[in-house]
Amino acid sequence: MSEELTYSSYLGLERLLHMQTPRSDPAEHDEMLFIVIHQTYELWFKQVLHELDYLKVCLSTAELWKSVHVLKRVRMIVKTLVGQVDILETMTPMSFSSFRDRLDRASGLQSVQFRELEFAFGYKRPEVIDAILPGTPHREELVRRLSERSVIDHFYDFLEHRGVKIPAELRAKDPAAANVSNQAVQEGLVKLYKEQPETTILLELMTDVDEGVQEWRYRHVKAVERTIGHKLGTGGSAGVEWLKKSLFQPLFPDLWAIRPRL
Ligand code: HEM
Repeated sequence: MSEELTYSSYLGLERLLHMQTPRSDPAEHDEMLFIVIHQTYELWFKQVLHELDYLKVCLSTAELWKSVHVLKRVRMIVKTLVGQVDILETMTPMSFSSFRDRLDRASGLQSVQFRELEFAFGYKRPEVIDAILPGTPHREELVRRLSERSVIDHFYDFLEHRGVKIPAELRAKDPAAANVSNQAVQEGLVKLYKEQPETTILLELMTDVDEGVQEWRYRHVKAVERTIGHKLGTGGSAGVEWLKKSLFQPLFPDLWAIRPRL
């Protein structure tokens, strides 16, 4: 007879709870926090990717309320990701220094799922793939997502269902290229804000998610600055100075460009 399902077996806890292995020896107290917080982020990244794949379907089939529902969840998860930085910041610079050497060249720069998220939103920078060593699990998914239609491309489908004419050059755009702002899309968005108030719930939620991702970048860079100052990153970048370059860069530039007209 097969074994009875339990809380632990359903959740795979035996494996999950044995995957926190500090490299410091004897183990430095805060290395456990460092591992657990990264793993927690990765689990939430997984969930957001799952939600974004569904959001794309909802947008292309013009399901306004389903899209709103998914975006509400994504927004809450992103807020949680931002809030978790508070926990990270309980680790002092001295405490981090006590095990930092043991990370070798491992870095958040190599987070495949974070890059998948950026690509899924349409924030595409093909060169970030170079930091991910061949053979890293899920690297192929990342390469696939680069040339896959992003949330923005599916959002254009939604807009067309709502009467917004999407310019041919945007439709013909290489899916691997980054989102660009577009005047005609902005005109359409302003019209929706003024004439189809129910769609503004979706547009505001997309703005919330965009702002949330920007907040995460800001909180991460400040956490990095207070922990390592201007030291180089373990991934080989210039650290804080390099991270600052992606601050305040929107995922959905058109939604920001129209604000003064609303
Ligand atoms: C005190 C803790 C942390 C420090 C000192 C730190 C440091 C850094 C540095 C210096 C970089 C630049 C790349 C490099 O050269 O390594 C970076 C990138 C990154 N880190 Fe962290 N990090 C910390 C915590 C976290 C956490 C908890 C996450 C959660 C997943 C994370 C995710 C990332 C990601 C995704 C990148 C790439 C960001 C981008 O390309 O814009 N980091 N980190």
